[in-house]
Amino acid sequence: MTAKIISGSDVAKSIRQECKDRIAAVARRAGVIPGLAVILVGDSAPSQVYVRKKLHAAQEVGIVAHLFEFAGDVAPETVLSRIDELNADPRIHGILVQLPLPPQFGIFEVLHRISRDKDVDGFHLYNVGGLVVGDTIFPPCTPFGVMKLLEYEKLPIEGQNVVIVGASNIVGKPMALMMMQAGATVAVCHAKTRDLAQFTILADILVVAAGVPGLILPQMVKTGCVVVDVGINRLANGKIVGDVDFEGVSKKASYITPVPGGVGPMTVTMLLSNTITAAEKGVMAPI
Ligand code: GUN
Repeated sequence: MTAKIISGSDVAKSIRQECKDRIAAVARRAGVIPGLAVILVGDSAPSQVYVRKKLHAAQEVGIVAHLFEFAGDVAPETVLSRIDELNADPRIHGILVQLPLPPQFGIFEVLHRISRDKDVDGFHLYNVGGLVVGDTIFPPCTPFGVMKLLEYEKLPIEGQNVVIVGASNIVGKPMALMMMQAGATVAVCHAKTRDLAQFTILADILVVAAGVPGLILPQMVKTGCVVVDVGINRLANGKIVGDVDFEGVSKKASYITPVPGGVGPMTVTMLLSNTITAAEKGVMAPI
């Protein structure tokens, strides 16, 4: 078997066109242009790359994006005050604080300071709670992007065995909740899991977000499984790879996402979609 490669870049392009249409509609009906504020603290090179991509993609679809940069040793109160200002600013519909934050920050204090109506990352407790009960407005962008990829490929989720490798608040945990909501049987593996392969081999759909290059080998997956690789790792030679041995596993899987060009563009795209949702929510009355 040779897997079909799911192009996140192609799906992202199609959703970004829908984003442009939604922005035109909200502008026409309410005179509103969606605004996104991105807060970046410190000089982490990967965070700078991700933020640049988010700002560029926002501008490309017609969202007005604002960057607020702070030095790595900034006092948390300074950033919290900025969040308060952005919460009160009617031109700003979405606020994102790029993670990770430097150690002087209490991450939850920061995330919970963002207005729940502008929480386009979906990390505020209110929105996390909504996700738990299957009624959230802002699904976290990376797992939301994975769900969209599967939807575009018309791959069924109900009744499937879904195995998630990685239990982070950003990807693994919200991914598990979304898959459960869609009717899957879900197992979540993590760094302490003994004998990872005994779980991964059962997966009809395997989502890997561990940050370990080459973690998933062909002998760990079932023939015909769907493999979604969320990992983004830079090797010593500069090459960007995921967590899956793409070469080997693509000979066994039925579908696989590449790195780069798989989940990455979807994360950014779902941020755009959530920002537009935030703008629509305030102003769009039902027709
Ligand atoms: N750092 C890594 N992924 C993310 C994400 O989805 N949102 C934010 N805010 N920071 C991140």
